Amino acid sequence: MEHMDGLTVSGCERCPALCASRSRIVNGSGPADASLLFVGEAPGAREDERGVPFVGRSGDVLWSALRERGVLREDVRITNCARCRPPNNRDPTREELANCRGYLEAEIDRVDPDLVVTLGKVPSEHLLERDVAVTKEAGRVVEHRVAGTPRRVLVCVHPAATLYDRSQETTFAGALDEALVLSGLSDGGGGGNGERGGQSRLGEF
Ligand code: URA
Repeated sequence: MEHMDGLTVSGCERCPALCASRSRIVNGSGPADASLLFVGEAPGAREDERGVPFVGRSGDVLWSALRERGVLREDVRITNCARCRPPNNRDPTREELANCRGYLEAEIDRVDPDLVVTLGKVPSEHLLERDVAVTKEAGRVVEHRVAGTPRRVLVCVHPAATLYDRSQETTFAGALDEALVLSGLSDGGGGGNGERGGQSRLGEF
């Protein structure tokens, strides 16, 4: 039976295609009181195997960029717009995103972070409810009501984008630097020299 305690969903069968393709539901991970919450698109193969978000190549990029800046995985919370792996790593459909929206909103309410960082186009457009030119808007913080509560949201390119478009590395690095300052995890004084900074077919990573 479907259940959600604010952070963890179990027994959800709202999306027939995803129920057929998933091995398990991949819930968010990290502290329930994190000041910084990353929001990705949907689990990929590795995440589906292990039941944890961002444990594949995208995660490698994100976690090593954070490590360079003195921040550990354990310091932040990370979740996805859709909690089940789409078949063939396709993007989640509008309907699937809508089915999972309440879970994401509940998690944001429960964690109550200082800053929400959207990783890539799908989460940015889903959360902000408009078209987003990610590369152009990356690093910019906007205020947006999520489930009635004003939230600070910062758009970031998806970490996987840096793997197939090196020009995204600087954009990614700049957005991450900004996110750490805005969430109080960095004083902005440097330490990381990040040169990291894209989009589409991201589920492969
Ligand atoms: N990409 C995502 O958007 N989410 C994951 O959990 C892994 C890769």
